[in-house]
Amino acid sequence: MGCGYVGLVLGTCLSELGHEVVCVDAVKEKIESLRRGVIPIYEPGLQELVEKNAKAGRLSFSLDLGGAVEKSDVVFIAVGTPESVDGDADLRFVIQVAEEIGKNMNGYKVIVNKSTVPVGTGSLVRDTVTKFYAGEFDVVSNPEFLREGSAINDFMKPDRVVIGNGSVAAEKRMREIYAPLGAKMIFTDVKSAELIKYASNAFLATKISFINEIANVCDLVGADVKKVAEGMGLDARIGPAFLNAGVGYGGSCFPKDVKALAKTAEKAGYDFRILKGVEEVNRLQKTLAVRKLEKALGSLKGRRIGVLGLAFKPNTDDLREAPSLEVIRALKAKGALVSAMDPVAEEAAKKVLTGITYCESVYDCAQGADALLVLTEWNEFKEIDFRKVKALMNGRVIVDGRNLYSRKQVEAAGFEYYGVGQ
Ligand SMILES: NC(=O)c1ccc[n+]([C@@H]2O[C@H](COP(=O)([O-])OP(=O)(O)OC[C@H]3O[C@@H](n4cnc5c(N)ncnc54)[C@H](O)[C@@H]3O)[C@@H](O)[C@H]2O)c1
Repeated sequence: MGCGYVGLVLGTCLSELGHEVVCVDAVKEKIESLRRGVIPIYEPGLQELVEKNAKAGRLSFSLDLGGAVEKSDVVFIAVGTPESVDGDADLRFVIQVAEEIGKNMNGYKVIVNKSTVPVGTGSLVRDTVTKFYAGEFDVVSNPEFLREGSAINDFMKPDRVVIGNGSVAAEKRMREIYAPLGAKMIFTDVKSAELIKYASNAFLATKISFINEIANVCDLVGADVKKVAEGMGLDARIGPAFLNAGVGYGGSCFPKDVKALAKTAEKAGYDFRILKGVEEVNRLQKTLAVRKLEKALGSLKGRRIGVLGLAFKPNTDDLREAPSLEVIRALKAKGALVSAMDPVAEEAAKKVLTGITYCESVYDCAQGADALLVLTEWNEFKEIDFRKVKALMNGRVIVDGRNLYSRKQVEAAGFEYYGVGQ
């Protein structure tokens, strides 16, 4: 249930494992497009895998949620759980789907919460289904840890599969489903499984905000955050992942999951102090790029800024909570003229970012620019021809919001370089 970044990858990969899968979504255009073999999102390798499994007859797409439930032994809920106005997870879509599942139950089934949901949602789904169906069924929590951009590999080779469950029958089914992966499986109760997901994402967000604060200190004392992170990351207790300083985290998960965990704690009577700091640091970090541009150029009024990268991270077209949205809006508010390019997120960006010039290449973006600003660390940006860029630009400033380049490299090419903590 739900053919988004998670549901579509989940369904496709389960069919690749040999299961018979029907992927359901409420959006007609999405299902029609999938039936024609057109994937509505950008995810490397997904197109080929969908084609292969659809052709083999193991993977199909449907608008008919009831029909899919009737035919299935296991029903995965993979709908969105966006942030609600008070910072909690909005469970509207989960409840809608649970109601529909309840209405169409025709025997024992395992209902699996794949969506990221607060502690207690397993019980909520159970109660919702029970309103419509008196027979036996189980509700399992099976949070997803895939990353957009490497989703298929992450699903097929997970660090762990977490199953929160209270029944022998459901455990047997979940073991059967995931057996072909040969992955480490953790079995626990539903509430602990629900919390594992939030705790993991909140910890990763904490690592990012922590290194961003270290970067800010580096800027003030003249240290190099890249080296500091390298030196920290080699400590096996710390590890190198998520120690890249930059203009803040975005995406469809970290911002909302940090808030939702703080809300869960608050509702339980606990003040989760660290998470408030993590969020505050991230909010400030998103303003860093504009502050650095102002430091370099003075007033931004009438200045042309070339922005490299719009997606919240490389290898995805996802713009949800991307720092680029906030940065570009702030630049426009200050009177700057913005040209931007992203290898895959341009179409998605056009729906939410207007009043800027979309460019085909880095060099189009550099044309006449007073400064270049890197907001997403796409591989394509690593190998740019600085000489060519310099000849096209009006100014000499590069603000590297993702520490993609080294100061030495950029300064040697004749630019003024502003990194994050470098
Ligand atoms: N995107 C990620 O990287 C990621 C990773 C791990 C976990 N998650 C979690 O997985 C969940 C889904 O995330 P996503 O990024 O795939 O969201 P998404 O917005 O891309 O997809 C959700 C899909 O559910 C569909 N939907 C909504 N209501 C429906 C209904 N009543 N019936 C059928 N379909 C319905 C929507 O049309 C949409 O296609 C969220 O809880 C998210 O936090 C996301």
